[in-house]
Amino acid sequence: MYNETAKQKFDALKDNPDALILGIESSCDETAAAVVRGGRFVMSNVISSQIEIHKRFGGVVPEVASRNHTLALPDVIDEALRQAGVTAREIDAVAVTYGAGLIGALLVGVSSAKAFAYACGLPLIAVNHIEAHVAANYIADTALQPPFVALVASGGHTLLLDISEYNRYVALGGTLDDALGEAFDKVARILGLPYPGGPNVERLAKEGNPAVSFYKHPKGVREDLALSYSGLKTAVVNYVHACRQRGEEVAVADVCASFTHEAVGLLARTAAEAMKRTGRKRLVLAGGVASNGDLRRALEREGKTHGFDVTYPPPVLCTDNAAMVAARAYFMARDGKGLADLSLNAKSHIPFAFGREENA
Ligand code: KG4
Ligand code: ZN
Repeated sequence: MYNETAKQKFDALKDNPDALILGIESSCDETAAAVVRGGRFVMSNVISSQIEIHKRFGGVVPEVASRNHTLALPDVIDEALRQAGVTAREIDAVAVTYGAGLIGALLVGVSSAKAFAYACGLPLIAVNHIEAHVAANYIADTALQPPFVALVASGGHTLLLDISEYNRYVALGGTLDDALGEAFDKVARILGLPYPGGPNVERLAKEGNPAVSFYKHPKGVREDLALSYSGLKTAVVNYVHACRQRGEEVAVADVCASFTHEAVGLLARTAAEAMKRTGRKRLVLAGGVASNGDLRRALEREGKTHGFDVTYPPPVLCTDNAAMVAARAYFMARDGKGLADLSLNAKSHIPFAFGREENA
Protein backbone atom coordinates (compact mmCIF):
# COMPACT_ATOMS: atom_id res chain seq x y z
CA MET A 1 0.00 0.00 0.00
CA TYR A 2 1.51 3.35 -1.07
CA ASN A 3 0.70 5.26 2.11
CA GLU A 4 2.23 2.67 4.43
CA THR A 5 5.46 2.40 2.46
CA ALA A 6 5.66 6.18 2.28
CA LYS A 7 5.11 6.48 6.05
CA GLN A 8 7.87 3.96 6.79
CA LYS A 9 10.26 5.79 4.49
CA PHE A 10 9.25 9.09 6.08
CA ASP A 11 9.99 7.77 9.59
CA ALA A 12 13.38 6.53 8.37
CA LEU A 13 14.35 10.10 7.38
CA LYS A 14 14.82 10.96 11.08
CA ASP A 15 17.82 8.66 11.34
CA ASN A 16 19.30 9.46 7.98
CA PRO A 17 21.57 12.52 8.07
CA ASP A 18 22.38 11.93 4.40
CA ALA A 19 18.75 11.79 3.24
CA LEU A 20 18.43 12.88 -0.38
CA ILE A 21 15.38 15.06 -0.87
CA LEU A 22 14.05 16.18 -4.23
CA GLY A 23 12.52 19.65 -3.87
CA ILE A 24 9.99 21.13 -6.30
CA GLU A 25 9.00 24.80 -6.44
CA SER A 26 6.44 26.49 -8.73
CA SER A 27 4.70 29.11 -6.59
CA CYS A 28 5.32 32.09 -8.89
CA ASP A 29 7.41 32.49 -12.03
CA GLU A 30 10.36 30.18 -11.37
CA THR A 31 10.05 26.51 -12.26
CA ALA A 32 12.57 24.80 -10.01
CA ALA A 33 13.76 21.40 -8.85
CA ALA A 34 16.74 20.52 -6.66
CA VAL A 35 18.35 17.63 -4.82
CA VAL A 36 19.68 18.40 -1.33
CA ARG A 37 21.54 16.02 0.98
CA GLY A 38 20.89 16.19 4.70
CA GLY A 39 19.07 19.53 4.44
CA ARG A 40 22.36 21.40 3.95
CA PHE A 41 24.29 20.21 0.90
CA VAL A 42 23.07 21.13 -2.57
CA MET A 43 23.63 18.37 -5.14
CA SER A 44 21.73 20.28 -7.82
CA ASN A 45 19.62 23.42 -7.98
CA VAL A 46 17.91 23.88 -11.34
CA ILE A 47 15.86 27.03 -11.94
CA SER A 48 14.02 27.77 -15.15
CA SER A 49 13.00 31.40 -14.92
CA GLN A 50 9.98 32.76 -16.77
CA ILE A 51 11.13 36.36 -16.36
CA GLU A 52 11.65 36.85 -20.10
CA ILE A 53 8.12 35.53 -20.79
CA HIS A 54 6.42 37.86 -18.27
CA LYS A 55 8.57 40.92 -18.99
CA ARG A 56 6.41 42.07 -21.87
CA PHE A 57 3.36 42.13 -19.54
CA GLY A 58 5.21 44.12 -16.87
CA GLY A 59 4.52 41.47 -14.23
CA VAL A 60 3.61 37.82 -13.71
CA VAL A 61 0.45 36.68 -15.54
CA PRO A 62 -0.85 33.77 -13.42
CA GLU A 63 -2.31 31.67 -16.23
CA VAL A 64 0.80 32.10 -18.37
CA ALA A 65 2.91 31.07 -15.36
CA SER A 66 0.93 27.83 -14.84
CA ARG A 67 1.15 26.85 -18.49
CA ASN A 68 4.88 27.41 -18.58
CA HIS A 69 5.39 25.45 -15.35
CA THR A 70 3.57 22.56 -17.01
CA LEU A 71 5.87 22.77 -20.02
CA ALA A 72 9.11 23.18 -18.07
CA LEU A 73 8.78 21.06 -14.94
CA PRO A 74 9.39 17.54 -16.34
CA ASP A 75 12.70 18.60 -17.89
CA VAL A 76 13.65 20.64 -14.84
CA ILE A 77 13.15 17.59 -12.58
CA ASP A 78 15.13 15.35 -14.96
CA GLU A 79 17.92 17.90 -15.05
CA ALA A 80 18.01 18.20 -11.24
CA LEU A 81 18.42 14.42 -10.94
CA ARG A 82 21.02 14.33 -13.71
CA GLN A 83 23.12 17.14 -12.24
CA ALA A 84 22.94 15.52 -8.80
CA GLY A 85 24.13 12.26 -10.38
CA VAL A 86 21.27 10.26 -8.86
CA THR A 87 18.36 8.26 -10.18
CA ALA A 88 14.79 8.52 -8.94
CA ARG A 89 15.38 5.27 -7.01
CA GLU A 90 18.08 6.87 -4.87
CA ILE A 91 15.82 9.73 -3.70
CA ASP A 92 14.49 9.37 -0.13
CA ALA A 93 11.59 11.85 -0.25
CA VAL A 94 9.88 14.44 -2.44
CA ALA A 95 9.20 17.93 -1.07
CA VAL A 96 6.96 20.51 -2.68
CA THR A 97 5.83 24.08 -2.03
CA TYR A 98 2.06 23.85 -1.49
CA GLY A 99 1.56 27.55 -0.62
CA ALA A 100 1.47 30.47 -0.44
CA GLY A 101 1.56 31.58 -4.06
CA LEU A 102 -0.38 31.65 -7.30
CA ILE A 103 -2.88 28.83 -7.06
CA GLY A 104 -2.62 27.56 -10.64
CA ALA A 105 1.18 27.75 -10.53
CA LEU A 106 1.35 25.89 -7.21
CA LEU A 107 -0.96 23.16 -8.53
CA VAL A 108 1.54 22.23 -11.22
CA GLY A 109 4.28 21.57 -8.67
CA VAL A 110 1.94 19.85 -6.23
CA SER A 111 0.51 17.51 -8.90
CA SER A 112 3.95 16.65 -10.26
CA ALA A 113 5.33 15.99 -6.78
CA LYS A 114 2.38 13.73 -5.99
CA ALA A 115 2.86 11.79 -9.22
CA PHE A 116 6.61 11.41 -8.62
CA ALA A 117 6.12 10.33 -5.01
CA TYR A 118 3.39 7.87 -5.91
CA ALA A 119 5.27 6.36 -8.83
CA CYS A 120 8.43 5.87 -6.77
CA GLY A 121 6.70 4.93 -3.49
CA LEU A 122 8.28 7.93 -1.73
CA PRO A 123 7.03 10.12 1.10
CA LEU A 124 5.63 13.48 0.02
CA ILE A 125 6.46 16.47 2.24
CA ALA A 126 4.35 19.65 2.07
CA VAL A 127 6.38 22.83 2.49
CA ASN A 128 5.33 26.40 3.28
CA HIS A 129 7.08 28.75 0.85
CA ILE A 130 7.99 31.31 3.52
CA GLU A 131 9.51 28.69 5.81
CA ALA A 132 11.46 27.44 2.80
CA HIS A 133 12.91 30.91 2.19
CA VAL A 134 14.21 30.91 5.77
CA ALA A 135 15.69 27.43 5.29
CA ALA A 136 17.86 28.72 2.42
CA ASN A 137 20.07 29.95 5.24
CA TYR A 138 20.77 26.40 6.47
CA ILE A 139 22.35 25.79 3.08
CA ALA A 140 24.21 29.09 2.93
CA ASP A 141 25.64 28.60 6.43
CA THR A 142 25.92 24.89 7.18
CA ALA A 143 26.58 25.61 10.87
CA LEU A 144 23.48 27.77 11.33
CA GLN A 145 21.04 26.61 14.00
CA PRO A 146 18.11 28.30 15.72
CA PRO A 147 17.51 30.41 17.70
CA PHE A 148 17.54 33.48 15.49
CA VAL A 149 15.19 36.10 14.10
CA ALA A 150 14.37 35.76 10.40
CA LEU A 151 13.39 38.65 8.17
CA VAL A 152 11.57 37.41 5.08
CA ALA A 153 11.19 40.05 2.38
CA SER A 154 9.84 38.82 -0.94
CA GLY A 155 7.33 39.75 -3.59
CA GLY A 156 4.48 38.42 -1.47
CA HIS A 157 5.63 38.75 2.14
CA THR A 158 7.44 41.01 4.56
CA LEU A 159 7.65 39.24 7.85
CA LEU A 160 9.73 39.02 11.03
CA LEU A 161 9.80 35.58 12.64
CA ASP A 162 11.37 34.65 15.96
CA ILE A 163 12.64 31.14 15.26
CA SER A 164 13.33 29.35 18.55
CA GLU A 165 13.69 25.84 17.10
CA TYR A 166 13.72 24.37 13.60
CA ASN A 167 9.96 23.85 13.75
CA ARG A 168 8.87 26.41 16.29
CA TYR A 169 8.48 30.12 15.74
CA VAL A 170 6.47 33.22 16.54
CA ALA A 171 5.52 35.77 13.88
CA LEU A 172 6.57 39.10 15.39
CA GLY A 173 5.34 41.51 12.78
CA GLY A 174 4.69 41.93 9.10
CA THR A 175 3.31 44.23 6.49
CA LEU A 176 -0.28 45.38 6.78
CA ASP A 177 -0.58 45.96 3.05
CA ASP A 178 2.02 45.66 0.26
CA ALA A 179 5.04 43.42 0.58
CA LEU A 180 8.38 45.18 0.15
CA GLY A 181 9.17 43.33 -3.11
CA GLU A 182 5.76 44.28 -4.45
CA ALA A 183 6.46 47.94 -3.63
CA PHE A 184 9.84 47.72 -5.40
CA ASP A 185 8.12 46.21 -8.45
CA LYS A 186 5.37 48.85 -8.52
CA VAL A 187 7.82 51.73 -8.18
CA ALA A 188 9.87 50.24 -11.02
CA ARG A 189 6.79 49.95 -13.16
CA ILE A 190 5.71 53.57 -12.73
CA LEU A 191 9.27 54.59 -13.62
CA GLY A 192 9.13 52.45 -16.76
CA LEU A 193 11.82 50.00 -15.59
CA PRO A 194 11.56 46.38 -16.71
CA TYR A 195 10.16 43.54 -14.61
CA PRO A 196 11.25 42.36 -12.06
CA GLY A 197 11.67 45.80 -10.61
CA GLY A 198 13.75 45.17 -7.50
CA PRO A 199 17.16 44.62 -9.10
CA ASN A 200 16.63 47.55 -11.52
CA VAL A 201 15.64 49.93 -8.73
CA GLU A 202 18.73 48.80 -6.81
CA ARG A 203 21.00 49.40 -9.80
CA LEU A 204 19.66 52.93 -10.44
CA ALA A 205 19.53 53.84 -6.75
CA LYS A 206 23.34 53.59 -6.70
CA GLU A 207 23.56 56.63 -8.99
CA GLY A 208 20.79 58.59 -7.30
CA ASN A 209 20.52 61.09 -4.49
CA PRO A 210 18.11 59.96 -1.76
CA ALA A 211 16.92 63.50 -1.21
CA VAL A 212 13.43 63.42 -2.78
CA SER A 213 11.08 63.84 0.14
CA PHE A 214 7.84 62.48 -1.29
CA TYR A 215 7.01 60.73 1.91
CA LYS A 216 8.36 60.35 5.38
CA HIS A 217 7.61 57.39 7.56
CA PRO A 218 7.28 58.29 11.22
CA LYS A 219 10.77 57.86 12.65
CA GLY A 220 9.89 55.24 15.27
CA VAL A 221 8.47 51.77 14.80
CA ARG A 222 4.97 50.56 15.59
CA GLU A 223 4.38 48.90 18.93
CA ASP A 224 3.06 45.79 17.16
CA LEU A 225 6.08 45.76 14.77
CA ALA A 226 3.69 46.05 11.83
CA LEU A 227 4.94 47.60 8.60
CA SER A 228 3.19 49.36 5.77
CA TYR A 229 4.40 50.04 2.25
CA SER A 230 1.33 51.11 0.34
CA GLY A 231 1.55 54.74 1.58
CA LEU A 232 5.13 55.06 0.40
CA LYS A 233 4.33 53.39 -2.91
CA THR A 234 1.37 55.72 -3.53
CA ALA A 235 3.48 58.74 -2.60
CA VAL A 236 6.07 57.73 -5.20
CA VAL A 237 3.37 57.21 -7.82
CA ASN A 238 1.84 60.64 -7.03
CA TYR A 239 5.24 62.30 -7.15
CA VAL A 240 6.05 60.80 -10.54
CA HIS A 241 2.62 61.75 -11.95
CA ALA A 242 2.96 65.31 -10.64
CA CYS A 243 6.39 65.68 -12.28
CA ARG A 244 5.01 64.40 -15.58
CA GLN A 245 1.98 66.68 -15.40
CA ARG A 246 4.25 69.67 -14.90
CA GLY A 247 6.23 68.52 -17.92
CA GLU A 248 9.33 67.98 -15.75
CA GLU A 249 11.69 65.13 -16.33
CA VAL A 250 11.51 62.55 -13.57
CA ALA A 251 14.86 62.09 -11.83
CA VAL A 252 14.56 58.31 -11.99
CA ALA A 253 17.77 57.48 -10.12
CA ASP A 254 16.91 59.95 -7.33
CA VAL A 255 13.40 58.46 -6.99
CA CYS A 256 14.91 54.96 -6.76
CA ALA A 257 17.45 56.06 -4.15
CA SER A 258 14.85 57.97 -2.11
CA PHE A 259 12.27 55.18 -2.20
CA THR A 260 14.93 52.64 -1.21
CA HIS A 261 16.16 54.86 1.61
CA GLU A 262 12.66 55.20 3.10
CA ALA A 263 11.62 51.58 2.55
CA VAL A 264 14.83 50.07 3.86
CA GLY A 265 15.02 52.49 6.78
CA LEU A 266 11.61 51.44 8.07
CA LEU A 267 12.45 47.75 7.78
CA ALA A 268 15.86 48.15 9.43
CA ARG A 269 14.41 50.07 12.40
CA THR A 270 11.64 47.51 12.84
CA ALA A 271 14.04 44.57 12.59
CA ALA A 272 16.37 46.21 15.13
CA GLU A 273 13.44 46.60 17.53
CA ALA A 274 12.57 42.90 17.04
CA MET A 275 16.16 41.98 17.91
CA LYS A 276 16.02 44.14 21.03
CA ARG A 277 12.75 42.60 22.21
CA THR A 278 13.73 39.00 21.60
CA GLY A 279 17.34 39.37 22.74
CA ARG A 280 18.45 37.14 19.84
CA LYS A 281 21.99 37.60 18.60
CA ARG A 282 21.48 36.70 14.94
CA LEU A 283 19.27 38.16 12.23
CA VAL A 284 18.88 35.97 9.18
CA LEU A 285 17.58 37.43 5.90
CA ALA A 286 15.50 35.58 3.33
CA GLY A 287 13.41 36.16 0.19
CA GLY A 288 14.11 37.97 -3.06
CA VAL A 289 14.55 41.41 -1.47
CA ALA A 290 17.23 39.98 0.85
CA SER A 291 19.57 40.20 -2.14
CA ASN A 292 19.27 44.00 -2.03
CA GLY A 293 22.61 45.51 -1.02
CA ASP A 294 21.06 48.63 0.54
CA LEU A 295 18.90 46.48 2.82
CA ARG A 296 21.84 44.27 3.79
CA ARG A 297 24.04 47.26 4.61
CA ALA A 298 21.31 49.04 6.59
CA LEU A 299 20.74 45.92 8.69
CA GLU A 300 24.46 45.39 9.18
CA ARG A 301 24.72 48.95 10.48
CA GLU A 302 21.89 48.25 12.95
CA GLY A 303 23.64 45.02 13.93
CA LYS A 304 26.88 46.88 14.69
CA THR A 305 25.05 49.46 16.78
CA HIS A 306 22.85 47.03 18.67
CA GLY A 307 25.16 44.01 18.89
CA PHE A 308 23.70 41.35 16.60
CA ASP A 309 25.05 39.50 13.56
CA VAL A 310 23.35 39.64 10.18
CA THR A 311 23.62 36.75 7.71
CA TYR A 312 22.01 36.12 4.34
CA PRO A 313 22.20 33.62 1.50
CA PRO A 314 23.74 34.36 -1.91
CA PRO A 315 21.22 35.93 -4.34
CA VAL A 316 20.45 32.61 -6.08
CA LEU A 317 19.18 31.22 -2.76
CA CYS A 318 17.31 34.45 -1.88
CA THR A 319 14.98 34.37 -4.88
CA ASP A 320 12.71 31.39 -5.52
CA ASN A 321 14.47 28.04 -5.80
CA ALA A 322 13.81 24.42 -4.91
CA ALA A 323 16.93 23.77 -2.83
CA MET A 324 15.35 25.79 -0.03
CA VAL A 325 12.22 23.63 -0.30
CA ALA A 326 14.21 20.41 0.06
CA ALA A 327 16.18 21.89 2.97
CA ARG A 328 13.02 22.93 4.79
CA ALA A 329 11.50 19.47 4.27
CA TYR A 330 14.54 17.76 5.79
CA PHE A 331 14.26 19.72 9.04
CA MET A 332 10.50 19.11 9.17
CA ALA A 333 10.93 15.37 8.64
CA ARG A 334 13.54 15.17 11.41
CA ASP A 335 10.75 16.23 13.80
CA GLY A 336 8.18 13.96 12.13
CA LYS A 337 6.37 16.88 10.49
CA GLY A 338 5.06 17.60 7.02
CA LEU A 339 4.10 14.15 5.69
CA ALA A 340 1.33 14.63 3.12
CA ASP A 341 -0.68 12.21 1.04
CA LEU A 342 -2.29 12.33 -2.37
CA SER A 343 -5.05 14.59 -1.03
CA LEU A 344 -2.55 17.46 -0.68
CA ASN A 345 -3.91 20.63 -2.23
CA ALA A 346 -2.35 23.97 -3.09
CA LYS A 347 -3.12 27.03 -0.94
CA SER A 348 -2.87 30.58 -2.20
CA HIS A 349 -2.71 32.04 1.33
CA ILE A 350 -1.25 30.61 4.51
CA PRO A 351 -1.86 33.14 7.25
CA PHE A 352 0.59 33.72 10.11
CA ALA A 353 -0.84 34.15 13.60
CA PHE A 354 1.07 37.08 15.06
CA GLY A 355 2.38 36.78 18.59
CA ARG A 356 1.41 33.13 18.95
CA GLU A 357 3.83 30.24 18.83
CA GLU A 358 3.48 28.17 15.68
CA ASN A 359 4.40 24.52 15.59
CA ALA A 360 5.30 24.13 11.99
O1 KG4 B 1 11.36 35.51 -3.10
P1 KG4 B 1 11.04 35.92 -4.47
O2 KG4 B 1 11.92 35.40 -5.59
O3 KG4 B 1 9.58 35.53 -4.88
C1 KG4 B 1 8.50 35.62 -3.98
O4 KG4 B 1 8.35 34.69 -3.16
O5 KG4 B 1 7.81 36.66 -4.07
O6 KG4 B 1 11.03 37.50 -4.48
C2 KG4 B 1 10.80 38.24 -5.63
C3 KG4 B 1 10.81 39.71 -5.26
C4 KG4 B 1 10.41 40.60 -6.42
O7 KG4 B 1 9.47 41.54 -5.94
C5 KG4 B 1 11.72 41.28 -6.80
O8 KG4 B 1 11.57 42.55 -7.36
C6 KG4 B 1 12.41 41.34 -5.46
O9 KG4 B 1 12.12 40.11 -4.85
N1 KG4 B 1 13.87 41.50 -5.59
C7 KG4 B 1 14.54 42.58 -5.18
C8 KG4 B 1 15.90 42.39 -5.56
N2 KG4 B 1 15.99 41.17 -6.16
C9 KG4 B 1 14.74 40.63 -6.18
N3 KG4 B 1 14.12 43.70 -4.56
C10 KG4 B 1 15.05 44.64 -4.30
N4 KG4 B 1 16.34 44.54 -4.62
C11 KG4 B 1 16.82 43.43 -5.26
N5 KG4 B 1 18.10 43.33 -5.58
ZN1 ZN C 1 9.55 33.39 -2.78
